[in-house]
Amino acid sequence: MNILVINGPNLNLLGSRETKIYGSDTLEELMMWLETSPLGTNHKFKFFQSNHEGGIIDAIHDERHWAQGILINPAAFTHYSYAIRDAISAINIPTVEVHLSDIHKREDFRQLSVILPVCLKQISGLGKDSYLEGLRILTKSIK
Ligand code: DQA
Repeated sequence: MNILVINGPNLNLLGSRETKIYGSDTLEELMMWLETSPLGTNHKFKFFQSNHEGGIIDAIHDERHWAQGILINPAAFTHYSYAIRDAISAINIPTVEVHLSDIHKREDFRQLSVILPVCLKQISGLGKDSYLEGLRILTKSIK
């Protein structure tokens, strides 16, 4: 399966950003770990990170004929980007929303995901395993 992995704003700072919440792996380490995991080796990946809403939307559009599944950590855009939600809704590719931290045990503004209604599922709070679990769900949905 061709999997597009999208990471949103501030996730480029993983490894040094609020490590008690997000862990000490860098984004590159995390993505490498996913790609080389036993499940990951069955798939082809493209990795994309942007701090810009439009950049994420463009990546979704640009890869819509290549990607068979999308794993997205929209980061703060989770909570208010109707534009990213519409982009996912427009392309009809199975998508799973993932979060490192448990957004349901944090601030009130993090409780709402405007992205979730256009995703198969949301996985939150498992640290880097959220990405692996998201990949598992995508894999199952395509078979
Ligand atoms: C996050 C949770 C978001 O609320 C936050 O804005 C992030 C990271 C996570 O992976 O836990 O930047 O998506």
